[in-house]
Amino acid sequence: MMRKMLIIGATSEIAQATAKLFAEQHDALFLVGRNADKLEAIAADLKVRGAHQVDYMALDLNEFDQHLSMIEQADQRLEGIDTVLVAHGTLDDQKACEQDYAKTEQALRTNFLSVVSLLTPIANRLEKQHYGCIAVISSVAGDRGRQSNYIYGTAKGALTLFLQGLRNRLHSANVCVLTIKPGFVDTPMTASFKKGALWAKPETIAYGIYRAIKKRKNSVYLPWFWWQIMMIIRLMPEAIFKRMKL
Ligand SMILES: NC(=O)c1ccc[n+]([C@@H]2O[C@H](COP(=O)([O-])OP(=O)(O)OC[C@H]3O[C@@H](n4cnc5c(N)ncnc54)[C@H](OP(=O)(O)O)[C@@H]3O)[C@@H](O)[C@H]2O)c1
Repeated sequence: MMRKMLIIGATSEIAQATAKLFAEQHDALFLVGRNADKLEAIAADLKVRGAHQVDYMALDLNEFDQHLSMIEQADQRLEGIDTVLVAHGTLDDQKACEQDYAKTEQALRTNFLSVVSLLTPIANRLEKQHYGCIAVISSVAGDRGRQSNYIYGTAKGALTLFLQGLRNRLHSANVCVLTIKPGFVDTPMTASFKKGALWAKPETIAYGIYRAIKKRKNSVYLPWFWWQIMMIIRLMPEAIFKRMKL
């Protein structure tokens, strides 16, 4: 059956690679991002790859008062929404956030509150129609606070918890809520980082997201081995963990 998929943060490298896989399945896509030129090029590419239909809307997702009208527009163009992927995010400068609450608040707004604002009306729609899937990219960074990125980690940790509650609520409405926790991924967000053996390509993460949506999974670490790494990180006693420069 053809999916009617809303992709929020569609210019993200991970979202683009994921959208390609759904386009190849001839699904109908509605893309949202803040850069109209990028969206136009991505939409053209997805059409060539086989998407049944691709529409897009340019929107800065920090404009919370525009969320509802964007969702209504997507709903109209797709003639209903059954799958949602939320992928936007920013990896803000941790040191700058520590010095300036305004920067911290902005990071929390983009990475956490904007998703809550989006998912409030989306969840209500899917709950009412009694089917669908909401997939959201959180992060392994949300599993434990670390000095190098705990503001971003706080937003992702809160997001993971929010999704856990939402999944619990929507289970009886036959709506799946998927929490995606990638490890290190080579994308523009991490362009300045030194890459090593643990780094994955966006295509690898995309395939994991695609499979998890199809299988209506609850939560996935991507690549899978991050499940083991994060189990060790989570279980480490605080007395030791707080002394580590992570
Ligand atoms: N890369 C990693 O190592 C990694 C690891 C774990 C989780 N994640 C998460 O994966 C998701 C996708 O990131 P990515 O790795 O694919 O990086 P990316 O290519 O840099 O994607 C981030 C996207 O978010 C968009 N965005 C940021 N603020 C926005 C706003 N206010 N309005 C609209 N769009 C906005 C950016 O739009 P522009 O293109 O217009 O700037 C960009 O397309 C994010 O949620 C990220 O936190 C990434």
